[in-house]
Amino acid sequence: MMSDLSVKLERRGPVAIATIDNPPVNALGLAVRQQLVRVIEVLEADDTVRAVVLTGAGSLFVGGADITEFDRAAEQPQLPELLERIERACKPWFAAVNGLALGGGAELAFACHYRLVGPTARFGLPEINLGIIPGAGGTQRLPRLVGVENALPVIAENRQIDASGALELGLAETLIENDFVEAAIALATEMSVRPLPTPALALQVTDPGEAFWADATARIRKAAKGASAPLAALEALRLGVDRGAPEGLAFERETFLRLRASDEAAALRYLFFAERSALRPPALKGVTPRRIASTGVVGAGTMGVGITAALLNAGYEVTLSERDGASLERGLKALEAVFSAQAKRKMHTVEEGQTRLARVKGVVGLDNLENCDLVIEAVFEDLALKQDVFGKLEKVCRTDTILATNTSYIDPRRIGEGIAAQERFIGLHFFSPAQVMKLLEIISLPGTAADVLATGFELAKRLGKVPVRSGICEGFIGNRILKRYRVEAEFMVRNGVDFAAIDAAMREFGYAMGPFEMQDMAGLDVSFLNREAARARGEQIPETLGDILVRAGRKGQKTGGGWYDYAPGDRKPLPSAETSHLLAEARTAPKAAEPKEIVARLIKAMADEGRLILEERIADGPEAIDLVEVHGYGFPRTKGGPMFFSYRNAS
Ligand code: 3HC
Ligand code: NAI
Repeated sequence: MMSDLSVKLERRGPVAIATIDNPPVNALGLAVRQQLVRVIEVLEADDTVRAVVLTGAGSLFVGGADITEFDRAAEQPQLPELLERIERACKPWFAAVNGLALGGGAELAFACHYRLVGPTARFGLPEINLGIIPGAGGTQRLPRLVGVENALPVIAENRQIDASGALELGLAETLIENDFVEAAIALATEMSVRPLPTPALALQVTDPGEAFWADATARIRKAAKGASAPLAALEALRLGVDRGAPEGLAFERETFLRLRASDEAAALRYLFFAERSALRPPALKGVTPRRIASTGVVGAGTMGVGITAALLNAGYEVTLSERDGASLERGLKALEAVFSAQAKRKMHTVEEGQTRLARVKGVVGLDNLENCDLVIEAVFEDLALKQDVFGKLEKVCRTDTILATNTSYIDPRRIGEGIAAQERFIGLHFFSPAQVMKLLEIISLPGTAADVLATGFELAKRLGKVPVRSGICEGFIGNRILKRYRVEAEFMVRNGVDFAAIDAAMREFGYAMGPFEMQDMAGLDVSFLNREAARARGEQIPETLGDILVRAGRKGQKTGGGWYDYAPGDRKPLPSAETSHLLAEARTAPKAAEPKEIVARLIKAMADEGRLILEERIADGPEAIDLVEVHGYGFPRTKGGPMFFSYRNAS
């Protein structure tokens, strides 16, 4: 066996076994492709070899092309040629799919003459997540192997095919339950006497008809939310059905290379790597997190309920504490509603929801939190109340229990100043709805122990969240940038720009809603009360346009109007004569602004604030700021985040 290579070749009688061994995910980087070409040449020339088993080392088959190569020009040998040589080989290749076969990995398996699957095998084409389409025949071979109807969801909608699905669809020959490689060798030996099957590209494909395409196009366009790749993937598939595989392949490759070089793909790649690095901050390398089994949440309001749901979904036990029976009952009802909504959205069965809910114990007061490994406080945003809660928690909980606050704005150093063992105190800032939003800001305090910080990151991983460390400043990273964004948007409105035009421009850019629609949805009164409290403390805070609206009773959707008017029970923003009237004096004459100019100004404001945050070392790098904006504030993924966007678009 040649062992220093990333494609290892072994012989077993008439069968050759090629194992792709390129940790961590057996990606098909340049060296692997070069070695595969060599392996093909050697095996084609060797008359004693009757069949080839191709498999992956470890638990994966192949995780795809090597994404780190996508910022450079494609290098020879390229994957499509390599797969074509396998497909045209004069002896059968058996893809022994031992685990995940993604992207180029799935395409490699499709090009083999047979696929044998282990129980954990899965085929997927996640290229659209990276702003590209499959580039090595995936859009052409898969529909010919399993039919257009079964292939489309994999190619353009992120669906995967598991081992049993592969057998049902005829994509795989056999399921191998035990002794995977040995059994694959035995099957390859036995089947090598058969004539070679028709190559996938030469199989017939049936056009499912106009209605199918129309329906698929509408569905995919809607789900894509402005991203280009999903519709391009559909187009490649359809073109191959209409005009045949050779034209389909050429179109696929050209589209793949064009999209690979796009800003959209660069943004999505950047986020792909940033999201992975976020889970492993270099500063915590080698630090072992503490073990968390039982958790406590204090306060069963909006955030407490969401945090509890997130913890239950991740398998934790939760003791949920409220100040009185009625508040607890209300909180537990809200929690039940979260689980029935999750069941309705098919995130789990009704029974599974019940099982998860059974892991929560509702209690009044803090006494029952004594055995928790972690307690997260989510009571009203009130310093004295929070200090009181932590004072009591310190007495009740074990000395090694991690104590966390979910405060949005209050300096956590003040919240925790009464805690004797500062090393166990941390900020865990969730976003609403906490069971859905991916962002978790982890606030490190001067006294927080490294293993407590590491536990925050481990918790985020288990909850499926994207953790970002934040230092201490008002609003931490996200709300501080949000404030700057809103101030800039209001500044434009004061200078005559129509706020509806600002909302429309930001929606067009990719946000689900613009800054004013967002305020109406969340309620203008929250930040108004914050400003009023600061004014009461003697801080000089100028009157905002939002303050004018709140003082007139316009707090947003919940009062039937804020920046916009709303018909009862309807969330559609309508122009408001009252708002125009209320703000008239504070604004200059109407001024038109191009959507591009609006977007550029607002993103520049965010990026400028981001740079200050970096200078102050509140965040660890521009990626951290972009992750906060993408996962906590709806910044469009395809644009990467304000730091990435302003860097790419700097002239
Ligand atoms: N290329 C290069 N590096 C990759 C990679 C890839 N395709 N996939 C994963 N990695 C790296 C990650 O960045 C990470 O690196 P790090 O340790 O330095 O942070 C490491 O591999 C481990 O990755 P994960 O932390 O994500 O490991 P998991 O075990 O959680 O997940 C996985 C494994 C499911 C394979 C996941 O990594 C994944 O989804 N990868 C991307 C798969 C993909 O998109 N494939 C298609 C690529 S495009 C393509 O194939 C084009 C073709 O059509 C021509
Ligand atoms: P909320 O008003 O919905 O809920 C607070 C809950 O705490 C209430 O149910 C109340 O009865 C309970 N409570 C009060 N005193 C208590 C005590 N002594 N013991 C136990 N429970 C007590 O507030 P919300 O929105 O959930 O906010 C909670 C915290 O989370 C605040 O610090 C807020 O700033 C922060 N936060 C809020 C976000 C949001 O979008 N609502 C987002 C992120 C953080």
